[in-house]
Amino acid sequence: MAALTVAIGEKSFPALGAAARRHVLGSLRFTVEAGQTVVITGPSGCGKTTLLNIVAGLDPRFEGRIEMPEVTRIGYVFQDPRLLPWRTVEDNLRLVLDGEKEEIARRIADVLAEVGLADAQQVYASRLSLGMARRVAIARAFVVRPTLLLLDEPFVSLDEPTAARLRRLLLDLLATHRVTTLFVTHNLREAIMLGDRLIFLSRSPARIVSDVVVPLDRAARTSEAAIESFRTRLGELPALLEQGLTEPTS
Ligand SMILES: Nc1ncnc2c1ncn2[C@@H]1O[C@H](COP(=O)(O)OP(=O)(O)OP(=O)(O)O)[C@@H](O)[C@H]1O
Ligand SMILES: [Mg+2]
Repeated sequence: MAALTVAIGEKSFPALGAAARRHVLGSLRFTVEAGQTVVITGPSGCGKTTLLNIVAGLDPRFEGRIEMPEVTRIGYVFQDPRLLPWRTVEDNLRLVLDGEKEEIARRIADVLAEVGLADAQQVYASRLSLGMARRVAIARAFVVRPTLLLLDEPFVSLDEPTAARLRRLLLDLLATHRVTTLFVTHNLREAIMLGDRLIFLSRSPARIVSDVVVPLDRAARTSEAAIESFRTRLGELPALLEQGLTEPTS
């Protein structure tokens, strides 16, 4: 059985007040194998966050089905970090855990060390830079020992050196933990660096325009030249999609 089967018939948001009904996702079908990282990309507003929320079980109002093994733990890095500002880093992580006190403390310390925040355990979330807050959001997703990881543009609005450090961190975490991952991004180089597969969505109602394997090994994923060479092979497709020029056909 695949680690994740997405078989969405359609997703619409109902009319509300003056806003008309919005048909966001068209027919969207794909599977993800265990341990695979699939990157979802597509024009702004095409329904990527909506898709992740459906997969996470946060939005049950859609036609179709999502299948995953019965024992699936989901870690979700939301589009904004969503930390409680008046709680410490440690407390923000504790909120998603239950169990024995020492075990929880150990897991929090381990995951913070893994994301490079061993010294920030007692810092209030309101005092964190955006880069640090994003690290905490990643730690919070990993601390539940996810079998399915969802990441929604986790490096957007960061300065480039910070984003580059966090991409390397995530590449390492994915290699270590081999967790099945759906990763949403607008950044094509980032998509190629991190994805085993890229799924390109059309404008809404979103459908899959292209589903491409990225056959790069670990060394190539940290090489600008290898990433650029693969990007060139994708031809015009990404640019067309970025401009939202590709119309859905179904
Ligand atoms: N709760 C909601 N009610 C009504 N419409 C919504 C709701 N959530 C999202 N939408 C609309 O659905 C469409 C898709 O939104 P979504 O946030 O999934 O897009 P996205 O691809 O993640 O965009 P972005 O790239 O900007 O993050 C948008 O037009 C949005 O306005
Ligand atoms: Mg979004």
